[in-house]
Amino acid sequence: MRQICFASNNAKKLEEIRAALGDKIKILSLKDIGCTEELPETGDTLEHNAFQKARYLHEHYQVDCFADDTGLEVDALNGAPGVYSGRFAGEPRSDERNVTLLLEKLTGIEDRSAAFRTVIALILGDKEYQFEGKAAGRITTERSGTGGFGYDPIFVPEGYNQTFAELSMAEKNAISHRGKAVELLAQFLLRES
Ligand code: IMP
Repeated sequence: MRQICFASNNAKKLEEIRAALGDKIKILSLKDIGCTEELPETGDTLEHNAFQKARYLHEHYQVDCFADDTGLEVDALNGAPGVYSGRFAGEPRSDERNVTLLLEKLTGIEDRSAAFRTVIALILGDKEYQFEGKAAGRITTERSGTGGFGYDPIFVPEGYNQTFAELSMAEKNAISHRGKAVELLAQFLLRES
């Protein structure tokens, strides 16, 4: 069976990608290939970071692999926090402080439109591929819901009245940025194998 490493140890992300691929392709985590160091992620775009992580693994571990990077792009903030979403309120990373800071920055601002964007960089042999998923929506004025993570309690996807944190995991995955990018990746890998 073909094996591909996903540049992550995040159990939720691994579960999602394994579910999309069924038993056709074996997905290895970073731990599975013995990679314990932090992957480089120093770019100023999602594309840069996703490819930087995937190329690092390919070079150092000689594996077929893919890596993802996600950001929340808020129109009124000219696309911020974007690639810096995880450390918007500084280090150490805190979802709680990131959400508080974003709500603060949008206080009194009418245009609340925003979008999550996920980029996946895939390396198979000597070829590179890119997949992207986007979820448009708006930022609320206060937190709502307890599910999900990150900015989920303040993001309402287009066509809904509830935040990502109020939707079930299955509902969110079906319409989310990462769900869409993972689906494109899975379709491609299943066609290729
Ligand atoms: P990563 O690239 O998946 O590590 O995501 C970077 C940052 O974006 C995370 O630290 C979260 O704050 C945020 N983020 C990524 N995906 C989601 C999501 O599905 N919902 C809410 N926040 C997210």
